[in-house]
Amino acid sequence: MASILGAVLFLSGAVAQVTDPLQYVDQLIGSNNGGNVFAGATLPYGAAKAVADTDSGSNQGGFVTDGSKVTGFSSMHDSGTGGNPSLGNFALFPYASCANDTVDGCDFPKKDRAINFINDTLKASPGYFSLTLENNINVEMTAAEHSSLFHFNFPQGSNPLIIMDLTDLSNSRQDNGTISVDADTGRMMGNARFLPSFGQGDYVAYFCADFQGAQIRDNGIFVNSRASTDVKDITLSRSINGYPLPGGAFNRFQGNDITARVGVSFISAEQACQLAENEILSFDFDKTHSAARDAWTKKLSPISVSTQGVDKSMITNFYSGIYRTMVNPQDYTGINPIVGSDEPYFDSFYCIWDLFRSQLPFLTIIDTPAVVKIIQGLLNIYKTNGWLPDCHMSLCKGLTQGGSNADNVMADAFLKIGGSEIDWSLVYEAVVKDAEEEPYDWCCEGRGGLDSWKSLGYIPVQDFDYKGFGTMTRSISRTLEYSYNDYCISVIANGQRNQGDAEKYRKRSENWMNLYKSDQTSSLNGSNTGFTGFFQPRFMNETWGFQDPLYCSNIDPNPNSVCSLQNTAGETFESSIWEYSFFVPHDQSKLTSTMGGPTTFIKRLDYLHDQKITYIGNEPAFLTVFQYHYAGRPALSAQRSHFYIPQFFSPTSGGLPGNDDSGAMGSFVAFAMIGLFPNPGQDVYLITPPFFASVNITSPVTGKTARIRTVGFDPTYRAIYIRHATLDGEVYSKNWIDHSFFTEGKELVLFLGANETVWGTRKEDLPPSLTPYE
Ligand SMILES: *[C@@H]1O[C@H](CO)[C@@H](O)[C@H](O)[C@H]1NC(C)=O
Ligand SMILES: *[C@@H]1O[C@H](CO)[C@@H](O)[C@H](O)[C@H]1NC(C)=O
Ligand SMILES: *[C@@H]1O[C@H](CO)[C@@H](O)[C@H](O)[C@H]1NC(C)=O
Ligand SMILES: *[C@@H]1O[C@H](CO)[C@@H](O)[C@H](O)[C@H]1NC(C)=O
Ligand SMILES: *[C@@H]1O[C@H](CO)[C@@H](O)[C@H](O)[C@H]1NC(C)=O
Ligand SMILES: *[C@@H]1O[C@H](CO)[C@@H](O)[C@H](O)[C@H]1NC(C)=O
Ligand SMILES: *[C@@H]1O[C@H](CO)[C@@H](O)[C@H](O)[C@H]1NC(C)=O
Repeated sequence: MASILGAVLFLSGAVAQVTDPLQYVDQLIGSNNGGNVFAGATLPYGAAKAVADTDSGSNQGGFVTDGSKVTGFSSMHDSGTGGNPSLGNFALFPYASCANDTVDGCDFPKKDRAINFINDTLKASPGYFSLTLENNINVEMTAAEHSSLFHFNFPQGSNPLIIMDLTDLSNSRQDNGTISVDADTGRMMGNARFLPSFGQGDYVAYFCADFQGAQIRDNGIFVNSRASTDVKDITLSRSINGYPLPGGAFNRFQGNDITARVGVSFISAEQACQLAENEILSFDFDKTHSAARDAWTKKLSPISVSTQGVDKSMITNFYSGIYRTMVNPQDYTGINPIVGSDEPYFDSFYCIWDLFRSQLPFLTIIDTPAVVKIIQGLLNIYKTNGWLPDCHMSLCKGLTQGGSNADNVMADAFLKIGGSEIDWSLVYEAVVKDAEEEPYDWCCEGRGGLDSWKSLGYIPVQDFDYKGFGTMTRSISRTLEYSYNDYCISVIANGQRNQGDAEKYRKRSENWMNLYKSDQTSSLNGSNTGFTGFFQPRFMNETWGFQDPLYCSNIDPNPNSVCSLQNTAGETFESSIWEYSFFVPHDQSKLTSTMGGPTTFIKRLDYLHDQKITYIGNEPAFLTVFQYHYAGRPALSAQRSHFYIPQFFSPTSGGLPGNDDSGAMGSFVAFAMIGLFPNPGQDVYLITPPFFASVNITSPVTGKTARIRTVGFDPTYRAIYIRHATLDGEVYSKNWIDHSFFTEGKELVLFLGANETVWGTRKEDLPPSLTPYE
């Protein structure tokens, strides 16, 4: 009897797990409502990203499902960014015919040619994107590493013309955009200089486009609204009036079925041709598409979840989130002029301020080799620029948002994958430089105000800083982030047996306390919130300034409150003092006692979420969902996590609460649904019940499979409380685990019930904290 039952259970378990994860990837999640995701065809971390670009006002990722019109099909994109639209360089655009069959009879400028597509023709899946324009031209696309394939199918009786436009999404093209078309083969080569979307300087991108499938009828170049078959090369000025002059090349074809192959490079058009030939030699669409599917299947298959009882939308939400963690950053190894050809180089960090919290920690688990390469790439940027970046895109330095948060990334990796092929002494040199040396332009690397940091122990408001220059705002959030950065440096120092440094940076990691004003109150709509003690700005003479703790919070009614990188911005970046009050990731014990003990700490967290002071669409909110663990109430973290998912993260085109920020939002969903949330920079994952009956995660490093299994799983999510747990068969009452869970393939069994219990609530069950719990 027992064995029969066992067999039945085994069978039902076997059918109820995800086998083909790609069917659960919906690339259109976040393609509307400001999610700004890249919805098109790409490989994991691929440099070639093909999609239809639209003229939406929020087309940062290229394609938007808001009824906006298609302006072209370009090959380079970023995903989920704020700032200006990024990349979108070198757009192809098809015309079924030109008026009177003369080349001048086509409308070349982007704003004139924009055209709707037929909604129900839209298809997007890993490595594939397709739609049919209103004029019945169907365009489907797929991608390899550095090259894309676009298949154009024209209606019968067309006289097809396809242009290549020297444009980008934000119309940032500078002087001397150049293109040429070969009279016989129709090959187009070119380059232009563009601006990065959230950074300094400019970059030059190159392309090479080849066409196959139909005979070339004739070709030439166009500029503005006029074209000629007599001219085959052009160099374009940026022009005046702040709008780059439309210009590019065209081919006309005899035949209705045309495939265009576009290679991209930051080194040369010749390299772009070479890469495209190597990657997509035969123009074989199905083969290229199938290779892309295989690459994605390989990346997504380390995680398998049970489908038992849960709605398909939950599984789609989950795998789509995971998918998005591997769209950005992008692997530009070998195609950039910055580091040597075989040296790892990744770009599109929007920004590490966003990515350190959960995206990179997520990849550390399921794609460790990629994280090793990403870190080696960051070190290569350090070797070239002299500094680790915070933001970085399109070969350019990006704008630093707060601390030198690459330090957190390094500590997280050091603790979890410290045995990897990473030059840890170079890592240490780089993070110590962040802490000790002030860059001349700390807009875009390192930290500002280091003299004050070292002498006063905080970043003062209205600092006197003559050694380096940056926006003199965010004194509170910078103090809090620098404190955590220094903690992370002490972690690496400690691991390298450098006790002197470890102690020095541990000491500096306590600097957050210097901005805590213990008698500061906070009022909401004129009535006291009942909480006392908040961070406040402080002058160089150690007297206090004032910023309303709710300034720049999600419920701040004042439209003039600004907390980004404006000169007039507040002392907290993209967030309020209320939310930043919880950002002491390394010493939650000290923070809790500073705020008046666990009961008050819990009340504050509840108030933060219940009053919607925090906004889950921005990364500082992530950890606050789970910080109840540190006050001995892991059950409340589970409740909060279900409060936000799926209500704020639904698997629909408008379902993201904000920019995906590379894949930061995606990684939040993935971690929360697995039920293990990281406190990055520390070897800690906070345990909550998964959204699935069981989860298997195979480590790419050891090949071992970690399992989380629930007993009493309830797909209606009423039983979200852990009654008791075992780890590898032993009773386990700590409310957190470490990374060895994944690498050693342990099994965590969670016994669930519908009521909060004492599991994980005792002092000895709490996650590590710098100061012992009281
Ligand atoms: C197509 O979908 C978009 C976005 O959902 C919508 O705005 C537009 O009206 C739709 N167009 C048609 C013709 O239904
Ligand atoms: C097309 O030809 C007709 C008749 O010659 C002429 O009136 C019209 O302006 C032409 N249109 C274009 C765009 O050249
Ligand atoms: C464009 O080319 C001209 C001529 O070679 C050169 O003088 C100018 O500096 C170039 N402009 C840019 C922005 O590269
Ligand atoms: C996890 O792995 C175990 C052992 O191979 C297997 O029995 C179980 O079905 C897997 N569960 C999932 C959700 O993949
Ligand atoms: C504060 O006032 C705003 C607008 O007057 C209102 O929407 C909100 O509900 C009030 N909040 C509280 C907690 O009273
Ligand atoms: C401290 O500095 C602030 C800002 O410059 C100034 O307003 C205040 O008067 C100073 N207080 C003392 C006691 O010097
Ligand atoms: C569990 O909680 C519910 C309400 O949340 C309560 O009605 C019930 O009595 C509780 N069960 C136990 C065993 O405490």
